[in-house]
Amino acid sequence: MPQFEQRNLRDCLGTFVTGVTVITTVAANGVPVGVTANSFSSVSLDPPLVLWSQALSARSFPIFRDAERFIINILAEGQAEISKRFAKSGADKFAAIETRRGIGGLPIIVGCTAFLECVKVATYPGGDHIVFVARVENFERTDRKPLAFGGGRYMVTHAHDLGAFSPGKALAQLSHVDAVRLVTAALPEVSSRLNATLGIAVWGNRGPTVIAWEPSPNPVTTDLRTGLVVSPLFAASGLVFSAFLPREKVDGHIEKEIAALKAANVSTVPSMEEINERLARVRSLGVSRSVPERFGSGITAYGAPIFDDTGQVAFALTAVGRNSDVGEDERDPFPTALRREAQALSERLAIAARGAIC
Ligand SMILES: Cc1cc2nc3c(=O)[nH]c(=O)nc-3n(C[C@H](O)[C@H](O)[C@H](O)COP(=O)(O)O)c2cc1C
Repeated sequence: MPQFEQRNLRDCLGTFVTGVTVITTVAANGVPVGVTANSFSSVSLDPPLVLWSQALSARSFPIFRDAERFIINILAEGQAEISKRFAKSGADKFAAIETRRGIGGLPIIVGCTAFLECVKVATYPGGDHIVFVARVENFERTDRKPLAFGGGRYMVTHAHDLGAFSPGKALAQLSHVDAVRLVTAALPEVSSRLNATLGIAVWGNRGPTVIAWEPSPNPVTTDLRTGLVVSPLFAASGLVFSAFLPREKVDGHIEKEIAALKAANVSTVPSMEEINERLARVRSLGVSRSVPERFGSGITAYGAPIFDDTGQVAFALTAVGRNSDVGEDERDPFPTALRREAQALSERLAIAARGAIC
């Protein structure tokens, strides 16, 4: 007899983070059936085999046991509600769920990340579950990010290297982690040279994201949070990415920001023309400027781009200081010095990248 509580085993197994699927089929009477399952796994490429296991107690078990085929719908990031719906035992799970018909008229859930159309080839007993092994006949995949599940909670996936941050070829050799390490390791010395609080931001999955701070000995604020996603239009680091990244990468974030401002009835929503002017100014001066309200009055932030060796902006170096110390114009001595520090870091990155390639 096992010397542990079932609950503890469940929690332990739950630490293994998985994707989430809804397995669909049709019953003999033509009614569509589906269940949420994360027991899905790939088995073999040649022949192409996959498996999943179903609880014998599931209401739909006799239907899957008798079905010749099923479809594995791999759910996308925004489909947690669909997962919850198909995890509830009972009828009418398909109401208000958009589907299309696959092979044999089986339902494919629209908007999923990928689906596999399968023919069952074997079943194996597995305690209170049964294991279905199936051959893949057809599949489709999209670029949609998948939904994940672990520790009893729905999750979204982020690449270990902060996702959408896309270093140039050489920086890819250096590896994102090393690039971040190099830049953040330089922060204390740059901060002491500029005598200012510094931040480093990357372009993450949700837009400009602050990943490190270096407070100056004379800090202007204690509110230095990392992981903060900042505005692509109003934050100094956000403006750097909006100005220097390819437009198609930032446009969606800018549009979202404008929509949010409009929804919040903000009276001074900038027009596209004003935004373009603002970004053109950042490009021509090589520095962005913002007045971050959350730091209180009399504080200005500047941002400058750190490029990789292919000329793509990889980081935004941001400095926050009192107006009396940092000035209020991008051409003042302080922002000019910040721009030079960012340039020097770009060069150091390129040198390190070349070293990594050699
Ligand atoms: C994330 C998640 C994963 C699940 N994975 C499985 C699984 O792999 N096998 C299974 O039998 N049930 C699994 N379940 C539970 C079923 O989805 C649930 O029992 C469902 O109600 C069965 O539907 P039915 O009783 O209408 O057949 C999972 C539930 C969730 C929320």
